[in-house]
Amino acid sequence: MLKVADIYTGKSPVPHLAAKVGLVGFNPSSQARMERLPYRGELDTGGDRMKAIVVTDQAAGTAGATLLDRPEPQAAINDVVVQIHAAGFTGDELTWPSTWVDRAGRDRTPSIPGHELAGVVTALGYGTTGVSIGQRVFGLTDWYRDGTLAEYVAFEARNLAPLPSDVEFTVGAALVMPGLTAWQGLFEHGRLHAGQSVLVHGAAGVVGSMASQLARQAGAYVIGTGRADARQTALDFGAQQFIDLDNDALEDVGEVDLVFDVIGGDIGRRSAGLIRAGGTLVTVTGPTEARPFGGLTIDFVVIPDRAQLTELVQRVRAGRLRTNIGNVAALEDAVAAFNRTERSKGKTIIRPHL
Ligand SMILES: NC(=O)c1ccc[n+]([C@@H]2O[C@H](COP(=O)([O-])OP(=O)(O)OC[C@H]3O[C@@H](n4cnc5c(N)ncnc54)[C@H](OP(=O)(O)O)[C@@H]3O)[C@@H](O)[C@H]2O)c1
Repeated sequence: MLKVADIYTGKSPVPHLAAKVGLVGFNPSSQARMERLPYRGELDTGGDRMKAIVVTDQAAGTAGATLLDRPEPQAAINDVVVQIHAAGFTGDELTWPSTWVDRAGRDRTPSIPGHELAGVVTALGYGTTGVSIGQRVFGLTDWYRDGTLAEYVAFEARNLAPLPSDVEFTVGAALVMPGLTAWQGLFEHGRLHAGQSVLVHGAAGVVGSMASQLARQAGAYVIGTGRADARQTALDFGAQQFIDLDNDALEDVGEVDLVFDVIGGDIGRRSAGLIRAGGTLVTVTGPTEARPFGGLTIDFVVIPDRAQLTELVQRVRAGRLRTNIGNVAALEDAVAAFNRTERSKGKTIIRPHL
């Protein structure tokens, strides 16, 4: 496959690819671009194919995922196409309707899961501004469109942010979902501020470890929870106190202002009783009946946010934030990576391109 660098420097031996990446007479001004860019139907790649992980059977879960050849995606209005260097996947996606049907409820399988990425922009859609061919980016793609366990993905430019050259692609991809989820859960939905206390469930996990770091930086007192073997990891990521959910009594925590729950079920229900009057239970595990006294329960799904991504990556560069990366695998090994028999710790990152 042609390298982005070749395309970017204009060495493409294939004229339609130069047109595809918008190099011909490239001018960042949107007016100039409107006059020059072809309609989507003209952005014909000549049937280029790519490798991707595909799912067709909801009941089969990750065991039903397969590595297949798929058509390379095309950039629609305000889209970018990104060559993916690192991608992430969240298991819950396979239970969400967006993986299986489009917004009108029509079957959209075979679909490509994974919505977290870091990579390099290779094409711009009609009207796309604020991002350039060859730029390093990272972001969260639309749940209802084909995703990032693939060599290329097309998605809305507003859903990405620039990835600085000194931040590795693996780190960029690993920052997207936990970073945005923790930020939105703590600060937008939980309204956490300095001097408050927060109980972070699963504090050694991917989202919990990010939430602990961000909450500490905001001046909150952080109590982390998890299994006994998670204690040291949770403390290393910023928890000031640790509750072993198998052996300690959760109720001994006392009152907190906010609970950030990534576990759900009985743990979520019991946690509601620990929240100070007027406090908040924030959960990412789905709807729950649990309600804190005089307070709110907010169950949410993370959304893309360029400003938040930019702030998060600046903290990584400043050495204030660490990602929690576990297994790193090639696209060819992704199905095996998501179906390991032993429980893996940390974020699994897939590398379609190195
Ligand atoms: N709604 C959203 O927008 C959104 C966004 C991101 C993630 N999520 C969901 O959030 C959940 C957490 O994601 P993650 O990536 O952080 O997963 P993760 O890395 O596996 O973290 C979960 C942590 O909780 C611990 N844990 C789970 N059940 C436990 C229990 N019963 N007792 C004690 N510890 C327990 C796990 O320990 P072990 O590893 O030992 O099991 C792990 O440390 C997933 O369900 C994910 O799909 C939702």
